[in-house]
Amino acid sequence: MDIREKILKLKKERNAVILAHNYQLPEVQDIADFTGDSLELSRKAAETDADIIVFCGVYFMAETAKILSPQKMVLIPDETAGCPMADMVDEKKLLELKKQNPEAVVVSYVNTTARVKALSDVCCTSANAQKVLEKLKGKKIIFVPDKHLGEYASKKAGVEVILYNGFCPIHERILKEHIEEKKRNYPKAKVIIHPECFMEVCEIADEVTSTSGMLKYAKGSFDKEFIIGTEIGLLHPLKKQNPEKDFYPASEIAVCENMKKTTLEKVLWSLEDLKFEVEVPEGIREKAKLALDKMLEII
Ligand code: 13P
Ligand code: SF4
Repeated sequence: MDIREKILKLKKERNAVILAHNYQLPEVQDIADFTGDSLELSRKAAETDADIIVFCGVYFMAETAKILSPQKMVLIPDETAGCPMADMVDEKKLLELKKQNPEAVVVSYVNTTARVKALSDVCCTSANAQKVLEKLKGKKIIFVPDKHLGEYASKKAGVEVILYNGFCPIHERILKEHIEEKKRNYPKAKVIIHPECFMEVCEIADEVTSTSGMLKYAKGSFDKEFIIGTEIGLLHPLKKQNPEKDFYPASEIAVCENMKKTTLEKVLWSLEDLKFEVEVPEGIREKAKLALDKMLEII
């Protein structure tokens, strides 16, 4: 029996579901029951009737699944798969910011720890940040942690926000010069950019959207060539869903090392040994869930 068959057999026996983010290794995406962006995966985690969720992604995503589905066992195949941006929020600093702006609403990007979500009023993802901010028009807003998404979405929504100095080191590897060079090589290609990129990169895009938004855009477009400004894992579903189209990464070094830590072997061990179980203390979970529920209710 090959490793894929072993995973599928054990998954059935354990009544487990495998969720994988769009940046996972191709073979991990291919074994998953559902793939998607952070928003879609949160929804799936809330809906599924499986007993176990094996989350192939980074830690905050598995934590989000646990917050929304506390009665389920949530497993992450590699517990060291973190998100450097999520770890950039210093709770003390955030509490200080809240104290300085007591009337402000705290909007936290879903790329945050459960503890930071618990200190927030509402969450957002790259797919709905603009919509969430539009709903808060007229209010003072603190946006954590991604300064690039915060800048882009607030500009689009026509609101002012207090930004936190966080960022994704992987998306910061994608520079305007890279896009310009690719544009020279592929003049007909449409440029699709993730809003975690620098504002000057977003400004020269034909479309700025989440990973699943990119998949929808490419599928629905009559164009045949696309320059993709995000983590290179997305090239796999793009190509799989659109074999007749060509996709060029804006930067070949935009690789999230944490997203690549999950391998098929680790998925199998995770199902065999029920490891690594993700837990969120109840007091934190309840508060964090309010912020996630508010997001799911708004959009
Ligand atoms: P998406 O929600 O667009 O999939 O983004 C998640 C992420 O971690 C981007 O770096
Ligand atoms: Fe975090 Fe960036 Fe990796 Fe996404 S790509 S998980 S934001 S480090």
